Amino acid sequence: MDRKVIIAGNWKMNKNACEGVALVEDLKKIFADCSCSCEADVVVCPPFTTIGAVVEAAKNSNIKVGAQNIHWADNGAFTGEISGDMLKTAGVEYVIIGHSERRQYFGETDATVNARLKAALKYDLIPIVCVGELLDERESGKTEAVLSTQIRGGFDGISGAEMEKIVVAYEPVWAIGTGKTATPEIAEAAHAHIRKELAAMFGTEVAEKVRIQYGGSMKAANARELVAQKDIDGGLIGGAALKADEFAKLICEALGK
Ligand code: 13P
Repeated sequence: MDRKVIIAGNWKMNKNACEGVALVEDLKKIFADCSCSCEADVVVCPPFTTIGAVVEAAKNSNIKVGAQNIHWADNGAFTGEISGDMLKTAGVEYVIIGHSERRQYFGETDATVNARLKAALKYDLIPIVCVGELLDERESGKTEAVLSTQIRGGFDGISGAEMEKIVVAYEPVWAIGTGKTATPEIAEAAHAHIRKELAAMFGTEVAEKVRIQYGGSMKAANARELVAQKDIDGGLIGGAALKADEFAKLICEALGK
């Protein structure tokens, strides 16, 4: 099964509009001399206030823009939230949902992930749905059960046709921002489990089409061996996405170039 590699940079709460545009301009310069960015789907996910400027800067390039959250309502009294319509109108094409930092610090649950996911699909945004276990869950042998619960809850009520468009990001929480990358074997085992769970819910044909990214201290130096694994189709990158040369190199490495 040929799944197109997808590399997305999650800028988290970094880069104001000026800094974001500068990063995209630097990426464009590097991509002009390197075809790797054409062979993968390349996405950057800036903070909300940086999105407009980055969409403008990324025009006529291979760089697509994503958001880091979406509310489930179309509009209304939800202070601090953002709707699918607002994102779509701003030129956003992807949206990260259920990142572990949202789950840890902002009360995100599988039910809210599911509601946000449905809103993203309604507005024709490509969702990047994050799942992943905490360190103590891994150490107590609960990784697969945690992933299954997150997948069953997060993708409840989604059709097979919708699932094919969704990107899943496996982000073991203990590997995020810690410099401790999961070994290719550990990551592959989790990805294979996620695909098995998707196959049980949606059938093998759909599950084989879903792209599953790895996230957690991925960088140029380890991207190649991770993405070489059978069920790893790209990366959701934090720290290494904040520097143009590192991010661009990571894309080539992920493609095995
Ligand atoms: P780091 O790459 O900084 O570990 O972050 C991963 C992540 O959380 C991407 O969403």
